[in-house]
Amino acid sequence: MDHARINQPPEVLLSRYEIEQRVAELGAKISLDYRGRVPHMVGVLKGAWVFMADLIRHMEVDVTVDFLGISSYGSGTQSSGEVKITKDLDVSILDRDVLIIEDILDTGRTLKYLEDVLLAHKPRSLRVAALLDKRSRRIVPVRADYVGFEIADVFVVGYGLDFDQKYRQLPDIHVLRLAPTL
Ligand code: PRP
Repeated sequence: MDHARINQPPEVLLSRYEIEQRVAELGAKISLDYRGRVPHMVGVLKGAWVFMADLIRHMEVDVTVDFLGISSYGSGTQSSGEVKITKDLDVSILDRDVLIIEDILDTGRTLKYLEDVLLAHKPRSLRVAALLDKRSRRIVPVRADYVGFEIADVFVVGYGLDFDQKYRQLPDIHVLRLAPTL
């Protein structure tokens, strides 16, 4: 079904302050777990880049970074199940401790696809950090090793997340209420 945005201010689900505090906690935890290693952080474009930019500044170990471009949603709000790579990795992940950075886990289709692709390149280890987890929506049984917030099945925008490529710039995470178009 097509949707249109209701013309009202979107409700804040997670404030910039809550996000900042949780991202700092995640950075500290991940840094402890990777002591003595140099994790290779692979951000999944486009949604994850704001989270990743903040997360790496809370890392207390050296890191390297790369990005993978993935497209799965089209312009609507429902996962299409189709996943395609729009930007490949720049450097080899052979024998690297790879940490996938996602903004949100929903059906799990994207992460399953990514894990299969990356494991084929034989990293030393592969873990996942996701800022948001809509666990109730899962279709494919994947999980993140590090989760910022588990959230209900609501459509969220801001802090890198979009609706039809808009709202990524919002500093807080908002619930976007959608109404069927007439
Ligand atoms: C979002 C998100 C994940 C994926 C999760 O990306 O960043 O990659 O959807 O959904 P799934 O668990 O149902 O597969 P999206 O396709 O919206 O692209 P974007 O990151 O460019 O906004």
